[in-house]
Amino acid sequence: MCGIVAYNGIRQTVPILIDSLKRLEYRGYDSAGIAVFNGNAVEVHKDKGRIVDLEKILPAISGTIGIGHTRWATQGRPNKVNAHPHTSGRIAVVHNGIIENYQQLRDWLTKSGYVFISETDTEVLAHLINHYYDNNLTDAVMTALKDIKGSYAVAVICGSELVAARKDSPLVIGIGEGENFVASDIPAILNYTRKVIFLDDLEVASIAQDHVSIFDTHKNAVQKTIHLIDLDIRDAEKSGYEHFMLKEIHEQPRAFHETLAGRISELEGIIKLDGLNLTEDEIKNMSRINMIACGTSFNAGLLGKYLFEQSTYTHIDVEIASEFRYAHSSPGSLVIVISQSGETADTLAALREAKSSGCMTLAITNVMGSTITREVDSVVYTRSGPEIGVAATKTFISQLCVLYLLSLYFGKVQGKINSDRMKRMLASLKQIPAQMTRILNNKELIKNYAQKFASSNDFFFIGRTFNYPIALEGALKLKEISYIHAEGYPAGELKHGPLALITKDVPVIAIATKGATYDKMVNNVKEVKARDAYVLAIADEKDNEIEKYVDAVIRVPATEEMFSPMLSTVVVQLISYYIAKARNCPIDQPRNLAKSVTVE
Ligand code: G6P
Repeated sequence: MCGIVAYNGIRQTVPILIDSLKRLEYRGYDSAGIAVFNGNAVEVHKDKGRIVDLEKILPAISGTIGIGHTRWATQGRPNKVNAHPHTSGRIAVVHNGIIENYQQLRDWLTKSGYVFISETDTEVLAHLINHYYDNNLTDAVMTALKDIKGSYAVAVICGSELVAARKDSPLVIGIGEGENFVASDIPAILNYTRKVIFLDDLEVASIAQDHVSIFDTHKNAVQKTIHLIDLDIRDAEKSGYEHFMLKEIHEQPRAFHETLAGRISELEGIIKLDGLNLTEDEIKNMSRINMIACGTSFNAGLLGKYLFEQSTYTHIDVEIASEFRYAHSSPGSLVIVISQSGETADTLAALREAKSSGCMTLAITNVMGSTITREVDSVVYTRSGPEIGVAATKTFISQLCVLYLLSLYFGKVQGKINSDRMKRMLASLKQIPAQMTRILNNKELIKNYAQKFASSNDFFFIGRTFNYPIALEGALKLKEISYIHAEGYPAGELKHGPLALITKDVPVIAIATKGATYDKMVNNVKEVKARDAYVLAIADEKDNEIEKYVDAVIRVPATEEMFSPMLSTVVVQLISYYIAKARNCPIDQPRNLAKSVTVE
């Protein structure tokens, strides 16, 4: 989704803006631009396409204050005119979010004599700030934002002044020595500073070279904490891998291990979850739990439903965030929101809905300080490190890890899991990173199978119970990065419709690890084989039966039935990755998609 960077300091701004924008490329974008104050006027350069294309058209510009943007079109087509920055007089603006009352404002500004050249809502903001500008940019921005309905993260320059503000869209300020930065995402500025201030909703920051002043809506100064960011810049680099996605798939054993670290003792059968602010009585008396999420995080939530139901015998609802916000939520129930970014607008809106209905709220997220973490009652962090590839991989695995821990912990507190079972489960859970590594070491085999399917137009992933969410996730990964139409189905449902689509040209990935539904799964495999489909099974190492019914088998180490989804996940991710690579797709930045979707 759109990215913002800004700089005010002692160095030349253009190389810093371009470098920082490149670090935001992973979020997905279709055009890019910068505005720099050259001592006399603001120079704007922007175009459709990639940042390297923008670099080619940049003249030499001298200036130490500037703003930059990568745009992911929401309002108005992706083209040069609609690309940010937008200007009005001496004002230049970059903006993430949506101005909902833009048409009224546009009509009013047009009547006042302002001429619009783009189709964007952002241009309204540029004219509005210009309209209120009276030699003080901070005041003009504050006044203009009072007229705006909707969401925004903005950075504005006028001469040598830089001002930034946010509402419902992330923005951080990076603190340097004689220079300060603004970014919509921390990795953009990690190369320059690790000290950041998280701007809160409705705050406005005036950013000079040597100090930053932050104000609330009444222009009272706000004291903010400076956070030291403990991220490794190498996390935001490919480190020799061809794609971030492949690197992040390989980082999964570490991400899983980190997410477990310090939270379990398998010898004592104990789970300790830092950040979980629920008393044992609240957990014992919990009658209803909702899981809410989008995309890959939804698939994690669906597995979470099976895990909680298995461990607590309580019914769990799992819902797509953009639908939940229109549903009825009952006071006193627990709403678990799952979001790797902690910024997804649909999830945030659903969370706010749940809070206003009196629900207890818990977030599972990967990004410290993200908006969702600041609005929930409890946060349990995944510890994946930054994920750059648009298609989520290691954050999914870490979300599953937290869901295993939470569901087992709830089961123990509710007296439904005894100490022996807990010890056994935790011991198995600790084996998962090593078992994932064994699958990764076998990736050449997976690559060979994947290449066979590169020219297919349709695909099915099927599974039952714990494996059904992984079938969905496999299909989602394949769609996202290879553009092949793929369906994830509960295997038992095929005969109620989708079987009509199965032919010899439709490969079927059957997740058939051992468990309570294995025999039924074998029957479903026979159904698709009878329609001539090519069936590739994902099965346990010790399963000598499955090869009788399928065309090919990829083996995963045997584990507890409920843990096998993590191992199958690695296989479906690699299948999708290698198919997309064989089709020459832009794996880390698939068309039309964004890493973090901050509009509803
Ligand atoms: C976008 C991404 C998906 C992601 C979804 C939810 O659509 O492209 O990969 O699963 O958002 O993101 P979240 O940050 O809330 O997990």
